[in-house]
Amino acid sequence: MKIWRILAIGPTKVIAITLFTAVCITLVIAWSAGTIHNLWLDYLTETIRAMAKQQFLEKVLTARVYDVARETPLDYLERISSRFDNKVWLKREDLQSIYSFKLRGAFNAIYQVHRIHPELAGVITASAGNHAQGVALAASKLHLKATIVMPTSTPNIKVSAVKSFGAKVILHGDNFDAAKDYCLELAKKEGLAFIHPFDDFNVMAGQGTIAHEIIRQHPDNIDAIFVPVGGGGLMAGIAGFIKAVKPDVKLIAVEPADAACFYEAIKAGRRVTLKEVGIFADGVAVRQIGKKTYSMIRDLVDDVITVSTDQICAAIKDTFEDTRAICEPAGAVSLAGLKKYVESKGLKGRTLVAINSGANMNFDRLRHVSERSELGEEREALLAVQIPEQPGSFKRFCQIIGKRQITEFNYRYADDSIARVFAGIQLTHGIAEKIEFIALLKSKNYLVVDMSDNEVAKLHARYMVGGHPGASVTNELLFRFQFPEKPGALLNFLMKVGKRWNISLFHYRNHGSNFGRILMGFQVDKADHETFRAFLSSLDIPHWDETENSAYQLFLK
Ligand SMILES: Cc1ncc(COP(=O)(O)O)c(C=O)c1O
Repeated sequence: MKIWRILAIGPTKVIAITLFTAVCITLVIAWSAGTIHNLWLDYLTETIRAMAKQQFLEKVLTARVYDVARETPLDYLERISSRFDNKVWLKREDLQSIYSFKLRGAFNAIYQVHRIHPELAGVITASAGNHAQGVALAASKLHLKATIVMPTSTPNIKVSAVKSFGAKVILHGDNFDAAKDYCLELAKKEGLAFIHPFDDFNVMAGQGTIAHEIIRQHPDNIDAIFVPVGGGGLMAGIAGFIKAVKPDVKLIAVEPADAACFYEAIKAGRRVTLKEVGIFADGVAVRQIGKKTYSMIRDLVDDVITVSTDQICAAIKDTFEDTRAICEPAGAVSLAGLKKYVESKGLKGRTLVAINSGANMNFDRLRHVSERSELGEEREALLAVQIPEQPGSFKRFCQIIGKRQITEFNYRYADDSIARVFAGIQLTHGIAEKIEFIALLKSKNYLVVDMSDNEVAKLHARYMVGGHPGASVTNELLFRFQFPEKPGALLNFLMKVGKRWNISLFHYRNHGSNFGRILMGFQVDKADHETFRAFLSSLDIPHWDETENSAYQLFLK
């Protein structure tokens, strides 16, 4: 019997149905083969990942670091915690013997190479920073010869620190890249092991011991750990460990906005080389994230944020206020990031950890840090204000400022009609208060320019306001005053001066001490000198006549 007779359909339909079924079966087989293939690939990738994770975890657990490193405390930051309504902890790597965590990775890397190659002639690296000290110390502990290549511009203080561990220092090249090229050449020629500052699994594993300590020191829940990123060795070590044992803990990478090589790499989906790198936080001033570190951390890090120089300075101050310790800019990067993250996400009641990664700070940088910290906290506004050049207008301007604390006041006579004042005003309610205050000045017809984010103003112009007023100021007397620093003291003083004499020069900077110091120029006719001096004596404010001072005569008159 013919099949179409049984099915009661025509032969063409049977052929069509058969063909259609054959196509469907082929498609299903092809699809499942592809899926199986993909599933198999995924499985393999996952297995390799899991093995790598396990292997790295083992590397951290077996890393040798305590021959030179100490287990640093995890300190609770009372002030920051209550200010931000979160529980903030600080891992104190600034307390290592070389004042940074870098000895962990350096020692582990050198120890592991030496273990495999006991005949090793020595080690070499190129660094002008904390890694140089780490390598020098680690090598001396293992009785190995260490050679450190540094750019010729390296400050003497860093050269001597490295030499004090018995390392040989070679100064070569104008910049880090030139020093590194020479270092690699020497390594080959002299059979020395090159110790990379971050792109080496043994270095990363050494840094990872920090994460192991944190987990032991704080076994309860941690919501997030903030990690500074330069080349990524510290983050790779911490991420490799944390994501293997406590995957729920968030890892937030923090970089300076002007040295954000990891942030840019994540954005581009590949490693990029930054054209310019800001060197304020020199420990993390790296042009390109490491190859190995990038492949390891790109999928493990939960978020990347950047912070400004002013925010880093504010975090140095916060660290000082809570611990009385001074950290280097790179050491404060993670706390700066923590504060920014908490504010932007509105976090409350979380347990957060920042890493103070180092304290190798030149003392003379503190001045810059203290000046910028208030701006970073939005606790100071820097304004250029134009006021009329006439007796009493300075006082009127100060009356508008009212009870607000003045942090800085610079003024020099320029012409007969207008005067430009450079003023620093303390803010207690951040940006909102600044905006309100600028609006108030504008409503009183003052021309105002906000200088708070103007780098030239902050770095240079504020110190240069002044100069020679030319022939227009002929009858000027210069006086230095010292008065107890308290709110309103400056205004009181100006109220007493009144409108009798025009003020032609004014310089005041709050130094945070008990006494405020002011340098002031008055236009006083010769015939009036006696009256003026008698008036000053009546103020009962210590003052000194500086009219003959050579600094004044040379630069301001
Ligand atoms: C104080 C300090 N913090 C952070 C870092 C960043 O470490 P990494 O380059 O491993 O990301 C460094 C690197 O030298 C450093 O010295």
